[in-house]
Amino acid sequence: MSASATSSSARKKSSGSSDIFEKCRNFTRPTDLRDAGLYMYFEVFEERKGCEPGEVRLGNRKVLMFGSNDYLDLITHPKVLEAATLAISQYGSGCSGSRLLNGTLDLHVNLEQKLAAFMKKEAAVIFGTGFQANYAALSALTEKGDAMICDHNLHASLVEGALRSPARTARFRHNDLDHFERCLENCPPQEKVLVITEGVFSMEGDIANLRGIVKLAKMYGARVYVDEAHGIGVLGENGAGACEHLGVLEDVDIVMGTFSKSMASVGGFIAGERSVVDYLKHTARPFVFSASLPAASVAAAGAALHIIQNEPERRQHLLHIARLLRGELRSRGFVVLDGETAIVPVVIQDEVSLCRLCKALLAEGIYINPVLRPAAAQNLLRISCTAAHSEAHVERLVSTLEKVADKLGIERNPS
Ligand SMILES: Cc1ncc(COP(=O)(O)O)c(C=O)c1O
Repeated sequence: MSASATSSSARKKSSGSSDIFEKCRNFTRPTDLRDAGLYMYFEVFEERKGCEPGEVRLGNRKVLMFGSNDYLDLITHPKVLEAATLAISQYGSGCSGSRLLNGTLDLHVNLEQKLAAFMKKEAAVIFGTGFQANYAALSALTEKGDAMICDHNLHASLVEGALRSPARTARFRHNDLDHFERCLENCPPQEKVLVITEGVFSMEGDIANLRGIVKLAKMYGARVYVDEAHGIGVLGENGAGACEHLGVLEDVDIVMGTFSKSMASVGGFIAGERSVVDYLKHTARPFVFSASLPAASVAAAGAALHIIQNEPERRQHLLHIARLLRGELRSRGFVVLDGETAIVPVVIQDEVSLCRLCKALLAEGIYINPVLRPAAAQNLLRISCTAAHSEAHVERLVSTLEKVADKLGIERNPS
């Protein structure tokens, strides 16, 4: 009898074979948090009828939303809605196929041309989500013998893409150019190198030191990939993001973006040299083996892009609100991470206090996301400003936060 036959019959006889689902039944963290009254996830929002700008509906309450990535307040903009509605009536609700085969619409091709021009690149390609774009691009572009040099604080989609690749990965300390240069120095001459960073970091809201990164990457013959998920619409003269803001858009080799933040939809894209985009279109498995983005989502993103390029006053207002909020919070003793983007992170070191704080804010009608380690280097109350917010909203948020933090005994250091 072969060894495998022996073990399979032993398995058949054994009544105590372990169950693949055992870990799920033993996974009690959500229940524990619920029991402690600290569970903050999967809140169910309802239709926005009757809501004012900046508000959403949670059950029978209207809640001030300070947790959305709809930075320019475009997901209910009439032009975005009109474009999506028209597209669905003209093209149907889905594409029922991969882009490679039957799933390419003129809408995809037109938007890709606009995105390429927006990012000052030769070509662009749209993916089903931003996560898919990062995962697909990193795993397809790099191979054994290559190296990826990554900022320490990268989004999970970039981390997963890097993990999927057989290339060597080195991480430099967050935004630390000296450490970055040491990583470059350690690459043997034959290694082909891709440097990966976010333009605006998703949790901390700070901007990458892109000028330094580009300069060093050029010196060491490396290519640069920038995820502009949180920069698009918010930074830059035309709203193209952190690379444009810092004057290095044309020097960066690949720009990745998502439609799920300022672009009021869902989807993602990669923009770069034509040969790179063409390579991804034919070899990136999450692109080739997945259905294309529905017409309504593409049209909504296209309409949002038009507004981003033509209404700079939206990002000017947004940045004014974020600046005001940062100053008000600091003056009341909250520890706010440095930054100049729409993301205003307040450090609340203790996890339980942070969850309690978010729960208490929600009870007062304000929604804010808690970010717990390891999603960020430290526990954060990640306040997300949008163009829908007013100075009165900032005042309400700050005074409520002050009241609730004091009630919970969260330390502040007012000036
Ligand atoms: C920096 C960054 N990259 C990529 C993504 C993924 O984008 P999407 O939501 O379109 O999948 C996110 C989303 O949170 C992000 O913050």
